[in-house]
Amino acid sequence: MNQNGHHPKQKTIILNGREVAFFEGETVYEVAQRNQQDIPTLCYDDRLEPFGGCRLCVVDVEGMRNPVASCTFQATPGLVVNTHTERIETHRKTLLEMVVSENRELEVDPLRGYASQELTDLVSLYEAQTGRFQGSQSGTTNTEDDNPFIFRDYDLCISCYRCVRVCAEEEGDYAISIMNRGFETQITTEFNGLLKDSACTFCGQCVQTCPTGALGDLKAMRAASIPLPIAKTRTICPYCGVGCSVDVLTKGDQIVGIHPAMDGPANEGALCIKGQFAFDFVQHGDRLKTPLIRGEDGRFHPASWDEALDRAADGFQKVEEQYGRHAVYGVASGRAPHEAAYTMQKFIRAGYGTHNIDNCSRA
Ligand code: SF4
Ligand code: SF4
Ligand code: FES
Repeated sequence: MNQNGHHPKQKTIILNGREVAFFEGETVYEVAQRNQQDIPTLCYDDRLEPFGGCRLCVVDVEGMRNPVASCTFQATPGLVVNTHTERIETHRKTLLEMVVSENRELEVDPLRGYASQELTDLVSLYEAQTGRFQGSQSGTTNTEDDNPFIFRDYDLCISCYRCVRVCAEEEGDYAISIMNRGFETQITTEFNGLLKDSACTFCGQCVQTCPTGALGDLKAMRAASIPLPIAKTRTICPYCGVGCSVDVLTKGDQIVGIHPAMDGPANEGALCIKGQFAFDFVQHGDRLKTPLIRGEDGRFHPASWDEALDRAADGFQKVEEQYGRHAVYGVASGRAPHEAAYTMQKFIRAGYGTHNIDNCSRA
């Protein structure tokens, strides 16, 4: 061990005056993160391949004339890195001011998406001026895209390409891409059409990674006018056996949106359209809250659980008596907990002596 507690063979860099170890292949940004040295980023999403587009993560490396983007620069033994020198902070502030000079709006509602406040927060942190640079503006709004889930307001786009990259790298969908260059840059679908005519599955990944609110969760945005704070509750998506972690957004007792849990062990920030957008059933007026039994009149009537279970048992008995045990088939619900699924297969296998059992998660 040397005086900094590192094994002599362990590779290290000097980070802000302190010797720190790194793993083979780590970038300077990753080493800094592990050592609680906060470097600002805009085009970075730790689930994606580093891109190096926004340059906000620049750091000073001894011996190099220009600052380097730490999110793409690999750590090598003996590197001397400073993350917050006066030169670097001025550089970052100027970069931010260039970005926001052509970004039309900074005060976007946090309901637009998980990362929607990133640019706004950085502008506050650096006290960046919003109108310092005059000139052309990039992005053409596409709020005419007729779909119920994703708001596309490219006036706010800063061309970080996180949406395009998450669609390709995490979803494997390639539904959106980049058209033109420079101030003409535009996020687009194939043939510049509507999302619903593209390969988009409306998983919402692009919305949740967008750092400016240029992409927004249309369903959640409808609740912007409710004058109550947003609360978040961690839970599991109730739809299928994958068990994605989500943060349910509520205002008062109303569910207004869903954020994917970036630290969810099963999904690591990914969701499908059901987990992301299909939460209306929870508070829907048609939701069943009591068992219903069909009466002589052919209509459903509310009943107690005992009455409903007796009726179901009678039905099972009649089918078995008339058609035999293999006429019974069970399909367990993907929304049911593990114990209920186990009990269901026991009921069919041990109770009826048939293997006619499945689970809707396989559908
Ligand atoms: S829409 Fe959002 S995520 Fe996509 S490039 Fe523009 S700012 Fe980045
Ligand atoms: S329905 Fe979709 S979001 Fe929900 S657990 Fe399954 S894969 Fe995840
Ligand atoms: S975060 Fe490194 S270049 Fe954008």
